Amino acid sequence: MKFFVDTADVTDIRALAGSGLLDGVTTNPSLIAKSGRKMSEVIAEICEIVEGPVSAEVTATDHETMLAEGRYLRAIASNVCVKVPLTEAGLRTCKVLSDEGTPVNVTLCFSANQALLAAKAGASFISPFVGRLDDIGQDGMGLIADVVQIYRNYAFKTEVLVASIRHPVHVLQSAKLGAHVGTMPPNVIRALFKHPLTDKGLEAFLADWAKTGQKII
Ligand code: E4P
Repeated sequence: MKFFVDTADVTDIRALAGSGLLDGVTTNPSLIAKSGRKMSEVIAEICEIVEGPVSAEVTATDHETMLAEGRYLRAIASNVCVKVPLTEAGLRTCKVLSDEGTPVNVTLCFSANQALLAAKAGASFISPFVGRLDDIGQDGMGLIADVVQIYRNYAFKTEVLVASIRHPVHVLQSAKLGAHVGTMPPNVIRALFKHPLTDKGLEAFLADWAKTGQKII
């Protein structure tokens, strides 16, 4: 399972990239706005930090302008993955860009039928938003189970990128279902490392070690 971080904060991205566990980055217009930076500059900087795919989202809603924006974003760096919304214009744009060899992440997916359409449009990634479905009392992880099954049934190459992850249990469930990727905020990635018994066990080991007066090197 690949781990992407969902942020446009380069300080966080640099720190997480140093762990060697970061496979890519996703951004969206809200995250770019939060960074307070010019989109093309922040995407270029992120692409230098991380080798894997960096999702940069178009903001037009009509096909022609989406296509122009997608081509512009793709020209920023070879690891840019163009992100389009799951609308008719978005999927039309996805098909053209994918046929040109540009990886496309189709975002704002909330149903299995939408995910089926994105795969048929040649998307490299589909982003079902689990947290936002949970927020309105629907079953976010149930959607992931459905999409994983449908993609397996037809051997689609589109990867299931679980988005809107809010906590470590979403990550665990995504991994058990066989989702290809999870994109998560930095605090969720950091939470995955933590367990109180790890901290307690390490403290006891180090206390006993100190009593020996030894050093390994
Ligand atoms: C993914 O690409 C999206 O940017 C993201 O996961 C949305 O998460 P949110 O619902 O927490 O805003």
